[in-house]
Amino acid sequence: MFFSEQLISEIIEKNDIVDVISDYMSLKKSGSNYMCLCPFHSEKSPSFSVSSTKQIFNCFGCGVGGNVITFVQKMERLEFIEALKFLADRAGIEVNDTKNEQQLKKLDFYKALYRINQETARFFYSNLNKSKAPMEYLKGRGLNDNTLKSFGLGYSLNEWNSLMNYLRQKGYSQELMQKAGLIAKSEKSSGYYDKFRNRVMFPIIDLKGNVIAFGGRVMDDSKPKYLNSPETPVFNKGNNIYGLNFVKKQQNIENIIIVEGYMDVIALHQYGITNAVASLGTAFTENQAKLLKRFSNEIIIAYDADIAGQSATLKGLAILEKEGCDVKVLTIPSGKDPDEFVRKEGVEAFRERIRKSVSLIEYKIDNAKKDLNIDNIQDRIRFTKEFSSILKDLESNVEIDAYIKKYSNIMRVNEVAIYAELNRLKEKHKNGNNKHNIVNNKDAQEKPKNGELIAEIYLLNICMSDSNKAKNIFNMLNPESFTHSLNKEIAYIIVNKLNEGKSLNAGEIISRLENVEKQNKAARLLSYELPDKELDVLIQSSIDIINKSKITRRIEELTSKMNELFQTGEKDKANEIFNEIKELQRIRK
Ligand code: CTP
Ligand code: MN
Repeated sequence: MFFSEQLISEIIEKNDIVDVISDYMSLKKSGSNYMCLCPFHSEKSPSFSVSSTKQIFNCFGCGVGGNVITFVQKMERLEFIEALKFLADRAGIEVNDTKNEQQLKKLDFYKALYRINQETARFFYSNLNKSKAPMEYLKGRGLNDNTLKSFGLGYSLNEWNSLMNYLRQKGYSQELMQKAGLIAKSEKSSGYYDKFRNRVMFPIIDLKGNVIAFGGRVMDDSKPKYLNSPETPVFNKGNNIYGLNFVKKQQNIENIIIVEGYMDVIALHQYGITNAVASLGTAFTENQAKLLKRFSNEIIIAYDADIAGQSATLKGLAILEKEGCDVKVLTIPSGKDPDEFVRKEGVEAFRERIRKSVSLIEYKIDNAKKDLNIDNIQDRIRFTKEFSSILKDLESNVEIDAYIKKYSNIMRVNEVAIYAELNRLKEKHKNGNNKHNIVNNKDAQEKPKNGELIAEIYLLNICMSDSNKAKNIFNMLNPESFTHSLNKEIAYIIVNKLNEGKSLNAGEIISRLENVEKQNKAARLLSYELPDKELDVLIQSSIDIINKSKITRRIEELTSKMNELFQTGEKDKANEIFNEIKELQRIRK
């Protein structure tokens, strides 16, 4: 499906952002904007603002923002293209969704796989009462009828061909059964047999409600405990999260709890903890992190208390943090998993654990001190080292200070000693790892802290309010002069629009940016309140600042070049540069 820029513009134009958001929230007029409680984080007083003139939204509380497409993406949990289709439909815009033959064939194949899986899930469910064992087993694990139904649990009969025969009679081909991973070829004979036999069955459902795979558990201690569908065209283990289809249906979720197993999710849901999902025992992947982040930024990891669970916790934490999630760890007493815990201790005890879940740093610190004996000097030294190495990744000194105060007391280590160790590590890190510094510099650049950046933001916001002023600005200034990369990108989009004789609209400009992250940032940038000043004065002073900063940077460059030349004895060249510097300094005044 291809959406031309023109079509995207039409879709944005015909879906007024105030109208669209009013479909979900009740907006109140406030000055030139509309306000409501943010649908994407929980809050008590409204900080979610919608601008009709700019056609963008922005939450001052949690920082989300964007145009009408971004909003629909977030609210309906859609990909960009899906959101465009959604809005096109809403506005009655025809999008001819033409696909080539190959694509159509592939889609048909996927649909066939969904259908056969759906049929299989139904068959398994209808088997639940065909023998005593499965119901006894599931009831024995505390599940009620309602839960069995809503999770679509089932039973695969203790026979070699029952599913195969059932599906054949329903008209499905053996080839499809095999491609869906439901049957396997026998090694001894030429025949096929049902892959899942005598197991309680857990269908895995994707976000659109399609059954994409199954997990099956034995009802005794035999091995393997769980058997899962193989990878198929519609099932990729690392791209899916068990239970997310249920979480999707809830708005305003505060956080998502991620557990290891099927039974953990199901038990928690039955107890009313309906924001639990499972990564299904495999290593947690980047794609799973991205998927989760679409639903909530705050993720609580509640893996089993065993060694494997703990190492999975650390790995999962790292991946989730890299995706920018706010991650916490919920610890469960050793030897238990969330399912056993909630059944034994009750849901209030589990909720208490949720409240007490700790940040990554505290989890790491707790791990570091767990098996140490504070009466032992060697152990205290070990702790100091480990502790400092954990703290060195923190950026906030206030935070570092707080942790040092807290743990120096508990572990009876001198605060000064920890600071000394920390400084030593930081020095080592600085010298040994330039890459890290570059990353930090980039981050620093994102924060509008110097006058230049603010000046750029002012100019962009002025462009949004008045196309004529925008023309003036870019007559005086080349978009290349913008230092911040996103500002520069926006400046170029504006100049292109002006050249094409088009009007400027923040919502539309944002849609030209390639990813949601940029769109969020752009919405924030373009929602800046301008200071109460004559616009022309503001334009002039902003341009001055930008030009001067540019000169300053050039002077710095030349100065270091000059120094080099002096050192290598090339005095004439150095003098030439010196004159250049003086000239620039004169202009800068
Ligand atoms: N798993 C798997 N294959 C196995 C064992 C585990 O796919 N042979 C996956 C399953 O998704 C399982 C999860 O890893 O739910 C966690 O495994 P584990 O903690 O061993 O099982 P539980 O979920 O606690 O299962 P149960 O409570 O039924 O014993
Ligand atoms: Mn378990």
